Amino acid sequence: MAELDKPKREVDVPSDWTYASAPESRDIVHIRERYGQFIGGEWLEPAETYETIAPRDEEPLAAVGQGTPEDVGRAVAAARAAYADGWSALPGSERAKYLFRIARLLQERSREFAVLESLNGGKPIKESRDVDLPLAAAHFFYYAGWADKLEYAFPNRRPRPVGVAGQIIPWNFPLLMLAWKVAPALACGNTVVLKPAETTPLTALLFCDVLRQAELPAGVVNIVTGDGRTGAAIVESEDVDKIAFTGSTEVGKEIQRRLAGTGKRLTLELGWKAANIVFDDAALDQAVEGIVNGIYFNQGHVCCAGSRLFVQESIYEPLVAKLQRRLATLRVGDPLDKNTDVGAINSAAQLEKIRELVASGVEEGAEIYQPPCDLPEKGYWFVPTVFTNVAQSYRIAQEEIFGPVLSVLTFRTPEEALEKANNTPYGLSAGVWTEKGSRILWMAQRLRAGVVWANTFNRFDPTSPFGGYKESGFGREGGRHGLEPYLRFEE
Ligand code: NAI
Ligand code: MG
Repeated sequence: MAELDKPKREVDVPSDWTYASAPESRDIVHIRERYGQFIGGEWLEPAETYETIAPRDEEPLAAVGQGTPEDVGRAVAAARAAYADGWSALPGSERAKYLFRIARLLQERSREFAVLESLNGGKPIKESRDVDLPLAAAHFFYYAGWADKLEYAFPNRRPRPVGVAGQIIPWNFPLLMLAWKVAPALACGNTVVLKPAETTPLTALLFCDVLRQAELPAGVVNIVTGDGRTGAAIVESEDVDKIAFTGSTEVGKEIQRRLAGTGKRLTLELGWKAANIVFDDAALDQAVEGIVNGIYFNQGHVCCAGSRLFVQESIYEPLVAKLQRRLATLRVGDPLDKNTDVGAINSAAQLEKIRELVASGVEEGAEIYQPPCDLPEKGYWFVPTVFTNVAQSYRIAQEEIFGPVLSVLTFRTPEEALEKANNTPYGLSAGVWTEKGSRILWMAQRLRAGVVWANTFNRFDPTSPFGGYKESGFGREGGRHGLEPYLRFEE
């Protein structure tokens, strides 16, 4: 822990107490040496494998299949057969039962999933245990509730399933993104081929075990692991009716180009550079907590991370001082330690990207602050960082860093805050901190962002639709809106 202002005492009492380590046991998780592709309810032997590792120390965890176009073809065929063989015609009330079962099983096995998520992805166990797992289960519960009420959700529109959904997800919330994709697809009567990200396949593979426990009919959900080539094979597969993608804007654009003219449906949830805006009447201590949660949660690997902080000039100095002081108390280290606030960076490639962008910030003239911090020797780590003196033109103010790095900018009037916040090709989320309700509403109406949080940040709920504007993508996930991409209407 870093130096904090400590009271001077006459008597010599120990004052540098630190947290003892509080590791979560990993015994609850059984990782197999080798995983196949989960297709048609069976594990098929992969033609080729790669090693998935733990980012905290680069420990090899398992050999995982690098899905080939043939694997994808088999998975799509299995999904099509399951769709035609009864899943799509099953009454909604029956589909709901499977979703409820899956939700309950996730709750029962949540510690196992949380440990595996932290091990394979690097996020603190505190977050996987208290955020990822409860939310993943909540998504299944929530969409289970809709499965037999689609006619009420869309009155007089005769909702029908779309068919086979190809779903490609990223590594920042592996199980949660799976839940966001799989739950609404199944609730609407579709079948699924899902590809987890190459660095974080293990919780999706453990989820196959939950599917078997839930006795979900074979082929309704198929999981194919592999890298971008496997993803591209899903996009190109002729018998897929809909693609749902979460990831980089670059790949999102590529997918949109590939699908143009094919008639296949598409939803994209892409990158962003969220503005977190603090007015001079905001409760500063709460705002500091919100800023910290906004950018250092999950090492900043969050599509809606509050990576651009806009501070009203009159409170700039006290706010930055409070923020720096708070940063020094963040505990960076072993994701499996229950005290850890900031875990490991997900991959060597992502660490490299963060380093490169941070170096560009220093070079362009921003002032960097990093608290003193002992980083583990092995693995991928980055110290929580704040940049001040940032101009809007700097790369760190424009490009998605996707790491624990905050850029602080200032403004004088609400109009200026708005103009600067909207001055980006993206639009996914934003935060407003002020005591005035009228100002919150004024800002929320004008911010070009799919989600606007007021006096809080990074809050998620399955009932609330989430999605972007502009280059952050299109389509909504969550809420009743999240059903629509998985339905066609016989009007
Ligand atoms: P990515 O977009 O390459 O990967 C996301 C998913 O897409 C993975 O499952 C990957 O295997 C798959 N994929 C890659 N190329 C594909 C292709 N041509 N066709 C179909 N699927 C493909 O993102 P990456 O490389 O992991 O991260 C790069 C940057 O993207 C990050 O630094 C971050 O800025 C951003 N990102 C944004 C996310 C978000 O939640 N919006 C999530 C992950 C990354
Ligand atoms: Mg990529």
